[in-house]
Amino acid sequence: MSIAERAQQIVKEFELTPEQLNACVDHFIWATEHGLRHHTDLGMPMIPTYVTSIPTGKEKGTFLAADLGGTNFRVCSVNLHGDSTYALVHNKWPVPRELMSGKCDDFMGWLTDRLEEFLKEHHSEHYSQENCQWGDHLFKMGFTFSFPVDQTGMNRGTLIRWTKGFDIKDAVGKDVCQLFQSAINKRKLPVFVAALVNDTVGTLMSRSYTKAEEGRTLIGCIFGTGTNGAYSEKIKAIPKFNIVAHPEITSKIMVINTEWGSFDNRLKFIPSNRFDQELNLHTPNPGYHMFEKRISGMFLGELLRLCLVELQKDGLLFGAADRIDKTINALETPWSVDSSFPSKIHGDTTTELLGTESIVRQLLGYATTLEQRKAIQAIAKAIGRRGAHLSAVPLAGLILHTHALEKFEGNIDIGADGSVVEFYPHHEEMIREALRWTKIGDQENRITIGLARDGSGVGAALCALVA
Ligand code: BGC
Repeated sequence: MSIAERAQQIVKEFELTPEQLNACVDHFIWATEHGLRHHTDLGMPMIPTYVTSIPTGKEKGTFLAADLGGTNFRVCSVNLHGDSTYALVHNKWPVPRELMSGKCDDFMGWLTDRLEEFLKEHHSEHYSQENCQWGDHLFKMGFTFSFPVDQTGMNRGTLIRWTKGFDIKDAVGKDVCQLFQSAINKRKLPVFVAALVNDTVGTLMSRSYTKAEEGRTLIGCIFGTGTNGAYSEKIKAIPKFNIVAHPEITSKIMVINTEWGSFDNRLKFIPSNRFDQELNLHTPNPGYHMFEKRISGMFLGELLRLCLVELQKDGLLFGAADRIDKTINALETPWSVDSSFPSKIHGDTTTELLGTESIVRQLLGYATTLEQRKAIQAIAKAIGRRGAHLSAVPLAGLILHTHALEKFEGNIDIGADGSVVEFYPHHEEMIREALRWTKIGDQENRITIGLARDGSGVGAALCALVA
């Protein structure tokens, strides 16, 4: 069999028909309603966040935000001007790999060291060099912690499980805000962790703050290393939330962190091929976040790598004679290529696919023929297209569940953030194509999808403010 034919077989394995997509959307609506009623282990968590108001753009003040999302840790100081604008300074550090699966104390200590470094650099006005002490000013901080947490208060929540490659075992089941606060207190830093914020909640808040004039933001979502979304729900439609136990909450709505990465963990409707199954086995959370494993940045590169390994085993590419750089072992090394790999290949429009030639050479260390590159590109596109089409499922699901198209006039706005939505070629276009396949149909043109940069910074600051 030629490599082109073999590639077509693999492409077929990544195909998703409009019928399958619509079955996923229907199931998503069911899972949404089920998750609002029940605490589930395998189902979609649908976590009440205790955030009961959406910004109007008039909020003011200076707040800190600490953001642990995936590969990086960021500390920001955000000055909200009260007119939908803000000023932000931030420092960012990659999280050392060994800490991602080490001890919780070491990890919290590392976060706190970075926070102290940030405060000394950007808020030295509150630090007395003479006494080596911080003054009386207490910063309120929003902690954007983008992992599934069972939230029990605005700044309380126990870690359900790690995702995105983290595996700090002794943190699971503990209150991440308290852990951070006690590490901060040990260092005597003037910081109060006022709010625990998922990055999607932050995205919803920041998009609402900055785009308040342009109408209602229905969903805040992330398509990056991981994926997830948040929206606001009527409290009376959240039967599992015990309002009587929280007399302080008088509001009618509450933001829900859906944790849609865990949609259909049982794989009843979402597609699952050999490569998906192989990938899942080598994650720290097998059987969970199965939806995320088909669409988010952490996994797209790995899926492509697994397909290429198969083509190599079949003797169709990457033979010994094609090896240019023997020091590169990425093809044999799980998780060694991220989503920028399929993304660059997908977006390569040169006739000879020279962009693909160069990235395969650089990342994998092999020379390729044009025919091989065409096969690689066809597979990369199939993986990317399936990911983007599936990304439309929760968006359509929430739009239909909330009846937003009938209830609101004008546009329905979605604030989105993350490397995949920002950089993956044609991502939004492919999402829109799939939205048109659903019951939304032509009304897809009423949906605006806008990048909400800094959701986890500005949004966390807004949550610290309302806390
Ligand atoms: C986490 C979510 C997060 C998403 C995007 C997922 O793996 O479970 O909490 O919002 O990644 O960062």
